[in-house]
Amino acid sequence: MEDQAEKLREIMRHKKDASASGDSFDVSGDKSNVEAPKTRRGDLGRDGKKARIITVTSGKGGVGKTNLSVNMALAFARLGKKVVVMDADLGLANVNVMLNMIPKYNLYHVIKKQKTIREILVETEYGISIVAGASGFSQIANMGDEERQDFISELDTLSSADIIIIDTSAGVSSNVLDFIAAADDTVIITTPEPTAITDAYGIIKIIATEYNALNMGLKLVVNRAKGAAEAKNVADRMINIAGQFLNLRVDYLGFIYDDQAVPQAVLRQKPFMVVDPKCKASQCVQHIVERLDKNKPRESGGFGAMLRKFFGQDA
Ligand SMILES: Nc1ncnc2c1ncn2[C@@H]1O[C@H](COP(=O)(O)OP(=O)(O)OP(=O)(O)O)[C@@H](O)[C@H]1O
Ligand SMILES: [Mg+2]
Repeated sequence: MEDQAEKLREIMRHKKDASASGDSFDVSGDKSNVEAPKTRRGDLGRDGKKARIITVTSGKGGVGKTNLSVNMALAFARLGKKVVVMDADLGLANVNVMLNMIPKYNLYHVIKKQKTIREILVETEYGISIVAGASGFSQIANMGDEERQDFISELDTLSSADIIIIDTSAGVSSNVLDFIAAADDTVIITTPEPTAITDAYGIIKIIATEYNALNMGLKLVVNRAKGAAEAKNVADRMINIAGQFLNLRVDYLGFIYDDQAVPQAVLRQKPFMVVDPKCKASQCVQHIVERLDKNKPRESGGFGAMLRKFFGQDA
């Protein structure tokens, strides 16, 4: 614990020095890190501000995290934001598959210290940048504490982005909990299926136990709903239980219709917001992003919250 604390102080010192010297990086990515170069987006650099980190997670797998992450990114980009999607599913990467891209370098190289996050960032043809996951290297899904902290502190080097969306693996691991601690907002996604609800509640419970804080910036999205009423019903139950029994605030962010346009777009390896911008799912994601954009992120989020966690204080 002593070592960890010293390490984090060191990171903070470095951060201060970097911001004093105006040292902020461009998130426009490295064009050489992709086999088929895509169109280049304009200058993304903007100094001296902190990116909003949105972590997307779920209890059960396959409930729509990657689709939500990628399509939310597109909706934010349409609002004029500079967005990076990071595939932090360390073991089963799929953001790049969903976008039909094969970056030469991915998080494997970052974790092995061969590249920095900034160096592996690639632009897409959709006006967002991605940090590709490390598919097929399941051993790195279990990083050591120190490696994980190094890795998360690297996120700070993407400070010229407005929004960083982190697509995590399903379920609870130390990795996922660190991404939640580093986030300004954590979007928990479930479907109306009882198993998905139970698993989503499971992750909320672990977050409550781990952080002992009322407001962790948790937000709930109900995916694959038949309609607003079904989704609201699922959300109300979960939010009430979290408030009553766990003393944890969860806000309802919205729902996404079960929509055939989603699997159709997945098959074409394109985001559904691009294939069918008017489909029900696209409209729902648009609403979710407008709501997020109106909401300010929690004050105590981000890097500060991660430090407080290590120093054992409430966030
Ligand atoms: N709103 C929706 N309507 C219809 N089908 C959907 C919807 N959202 C997701 N799906 C289906 O669920 C599949 C899984 O979605 P996605 O890959 O986004 O989930 P995930 O949570 O990222 O999965 P994993 O845990 O494996 O990473 C999609 O390929 C699609 O077929
Ligand atoms: Mg996924």
